[in-house]
Amino acid sequence: MNRIKDHENLNHKKVLLRLDLNVPLKNGIITDHTRIDKILPIIEFLLNKNSKIIIISHVGRPKGKVNKELSLKPICESLEKKINKKIKILNENIFELKKDDLFKNSKEQIVFLENIRFYEEEEKNDQNFSKHLAELADLYVNDAFSCSHRAHASVCKITEFLPSFAGLQLETEINALKKVTTEIKRPVTCIIGGSKISTKIGIIKNLIPKFDNILIVGGMANNIIKYKGNPIGKSISEDNCETIIEEIFETSNNYSCKIYYPEDVLVGKNMNDKSRIKKLDEITDDDFILDIGPKTVNKIKDIIEKSKTVLWNGPAGYFENSNFAKGSYEIAKSIIKKNKDKSIYSVVGGGDTISVINQINAIRDFNFVSTAGGAFLEYLEGKELPGIKALN
Ligand code: 3PG
Repeated sequence: MNRIKDHENLNHKKVLLRLDLNVPLKNGIITDHTRIDKILPIIEFLLNKNSKIIIISHVGRPKGKVNKELSLKPICESLEKKINKKIKILNENIFELKKDDLFKNSKEQIVFLENIRFYEEEEKNDQNFSKHLAELADLYVNDAFSCSHRAHASVCKITEFLPSFAGLQLETEINALKKVTTEIKRPVTCIIGGSKISTKIGIIKNLIPKFDNILIVGGMANNIIKYKGNPIGKSISEDNCETIIEEIFETSNNYSCKIYYPEDVLVGKNMNDKSRIKKLDEITDDDFILDIGPKTVNKIKDIIEKSKTVLWNGPAGYFENSNFAKGSYEIAKSIIKKNKDKSIYSVVGGGDTISVINQINAIRDFNFVSTAGGAFLEYLEGKELPGIKALN
């Protein structure tokens, strides 16, 4: 893998820089800045080398359509403030942009392309689109480890048309995860939550041979609760997951890996509601499952207590409403407690999980914090991520 930090001449070079600025936004306000803070070193590095930077990122899942709520504008403005430099956001159709139109003003050093997922070609890993993007620059840098599990144009195909390099944060993340997976101490517990059910449910089966305990919480647990014959009311869930869930339980029987899912939950009638504790068979049609219940929290604490390594990806509930944040906070607190007496190695990954631990000001209380969610899990699975393969 070629590394940008080894490149000898970046002076005046136009660098297409793929970042993951997929930060949580609430009414256009960024609620967690970690992913922006993590890419400041690559910006600083390229500016010091006198490069011209064209930033590419996505935010959210606009599915190939322009969606003003998913504009990168607030993110661009936040970056401007952090580096104290003017950044131009280009709203033109990317297909109409030409290399010579960029950086006409010699003082300009950074431009931002609008949300790359406004173009359906991005997720299709489209050849023409990638070629056109490539024509805007002299070289390409991937500093978005957390997007590298996506075979998308600005992550994969683009590397066929430009000299391509690994960024600084991407390398840090890979090295840290390599260390975790080679020096892992058992028992290993993996906690998987969050709302991206389709991204994660298929991965669990492949993680079973590697871990001692897999704890399924958050949105994904709803599918298991339903599969086990309980009502889930109006809670989020994914269709057609029965076969994969069956396979998860079957596979776990063949290995010494135990699968846990919530024994009780916190529900609300809407996302802004207060919380009520319910047993699984008490959930009614108008309930939303929004967090794990106290019995489940105690079970998880007990498992963490007996673990030597904990890998955590995805919150246990709808932590954006503090009435449903307790499950995630309690998980965080029990890992932190063991981290303080150095009796556990802890790795946390994913944008939302980082938000949770930032809310309790605990980002430094884990051994490693990865910006990656889905990519983190796929890496643990042992898969070669398409974005990394493309760089190789
Ligand atoms: C992430 O948040 O994990 C990355 O930005 C990828 O987002 P995606 O799951 O929408 O592809």
